[in-house]
Amino acid sequence: MDKEHSNHETNIEKENTLTNRQGHPVTNNQDIRTVGNRGPATLENYDFIEKISHFDRERIPERVVHGRGAGAHGYFEAYGTAGDEPISKYTRAKLFQEKGKRTPVFVRFSTVIHGGHSPETLRDPRGFAVKFYTEDGNWDLVGNNIKIFFIRDAIKFPDMIHAFKPDPITNVQDNQRFFDFCSNSPESFHMVTFIYSPWGIPANYRQMQGSGVNTYRWINSEGEAVLVKYHWEPKQGIKNLTQKEAEEIQAKNFNHATQDLYDAIERGDYPEWELFVQIMSDDEHPELDFDPLDDTKLWPNDQFPWIPVGKMVLNKNPEDYFTEVEQAAFGTGVLVDGLDFSDDKMLQGRTFSYSDTQRYRVGANYLQLPINAAKKRVATNQEGGQMRYAPERASGKNPHINYEPSILGGLEEAKQLGKEHTPEVKGKLVREPIDRPNNTKQAGETYRMFEDWEKDELINNLVNDLSACDQRIQDKMIALAEEADEEYGRRLREGLKNTTKEHDPNPLGAKDAEKVSKETMEDSHD
Ligand code: HEM
Repeated sequence: MDKEHSNHETNIEKENTLTNRQGHPVTNNQDIRTVGNRGPATLENYDFIEKISHFDRERIPERVVHGRGAGAHGYFEAYGTAGDEPISKYTRAKLFQEKGKRTPVFVRFSTVIHGGHSPETLRDPRGFAVKFYTEDGNWDLVGNNIKIFFIRDAIKFPDMIHAFKPDPITNVQDNQRFFDFCSNSPESFHMVTFIYSPWGIPANYRQMQGSGVNTYRWINSEGEAVLVKYHWEPKQGIKNLTQKEAEEIQAKNFNHATQDLYDAIERGDYPEWELFVQIMSDDEHPELDFDPLDDTKLWPNDQFPWIPVGKMVLNKNPEDYFTEVEQAAFGTGVLVDGLDFSDDKMLQGRTFSYSDTQRYRVGANYLQLPINAAKKRVATNQEGGQMRYAPERASGKNPHINYEPSILGGLEEAKQLGKEHTPEVKGKLVREPIDRPNNTKQAGETYRMFEDWEKDELINNLVNDLSACDQRIQDKMIALAEEADEEYGRRLREGLKNTTKEHDPNPLGAKDAEKVSKETMEDSHD
């Protein structure tokens, strides 16, 4: 091809022509502009500077927890009932009312402690966050796979996460930090029992349960409230891994859960979950040996049965990971009419934390991004902020009026959708733990419910990770296990008696590997 002809060809913009962000066709994506073909480069080199400076900014801050995740789109389909009752008896939330009514959803599954590219085989809770794009605006149900949590007061969350994350100096995760925090926070023992059992390593995201964990309220059209807990049950069945199975997978593929979800949806094998609720009357329940607002406790199924209220199907993969999964922002404050908070002290703390971190992580206008925006009319008097790309007042009668109240045609308040729920709150302002902490009883019940192989795994895993911890920490953990269940305590004590090692802050065994390789080298010199 002659030179003139080839230049002519590249100047024609086709459907797949590369452009820069200004829409200019890129005619040379191989060479920066230089004085002579050996340089130096020039500063007016717009295409190059635009390309490299955008690349320099490709990352946004990672989520401070739940950094690694996978997402998918789908829908929620309501049953219209709660057991034998119409669901309207308990909640007026529109998405639940009508049998067969579908609401689009976006789900993000995640691991908690390590960063964006960490293995998906680690012993860790799994996140299960669902955004429902309802006709009344968005509802986020931000849950985990396990139905309880380590702590019951939000003020302890930053300390807990610091203890579970790597040491600030060595940047290595250290079991001793985990058990130091947990043994000194006995309310965590029930969750530790789940996490150190095979329930701490779900086989993948499709065969995993989900739970809202915290206690919420449902409000009906009379303004009456009940306490409610949410649970997702996978129709694919539940599958967890032993430590050995997890290690085998990790050696070959540390993205296995993301890949499993993506591949299943690509081949049309759409995962489904049924949504269940447990309901309690809205009071303190003095007859129970735990507080219904304590998220370290399960609500016994025989007293508070699981009631199916709908199902969820995931049938579409994200088109772009960053745009949808990374920029997705879920929060416990994101509720619709008919759904409400409870006084659960974790839930109240969480509700501040999510939108606060998202204003920092994604930016002040994070709710304008398509993945986070409600799929309905949004009309606020909010203005400006970084990366704002659309006014939200446009649908008011007079777009000049960006304040309220006004008689000049601005936006107006909505009518109250139903009778308001107005609980009476009375009491001394205090900083005190709740009554009925009962830290270990349910851990014992959970231990006894495990199958034999699950108990064996639990003890082996605990012994393995505790054996290099300070004796005082081991003793505290044994005492908690003994308080929970005689056999649990005995097996842990016996297991630790023979295996206690010197504390090695490196769980990856790098020191051992170094030692072995040194010995091997010495042998080979003999
Ligand atoms: C993510 C705070 C407890 C489930 C996050 C994030 C923060 C946070 C700051 C990052 C959000 C983002 O960057 O978008 C807290 C605080 C808690 C708490 C302060 C306790 C006081 C819990 C509990 C659960 C949970 C009990 C389970 C029910 C999740 C999930 C995500 C998350 C699933 C990831 C959401 C996503 O996929 O984007 N949490 N959290 N958190 N948290 Fe919590």
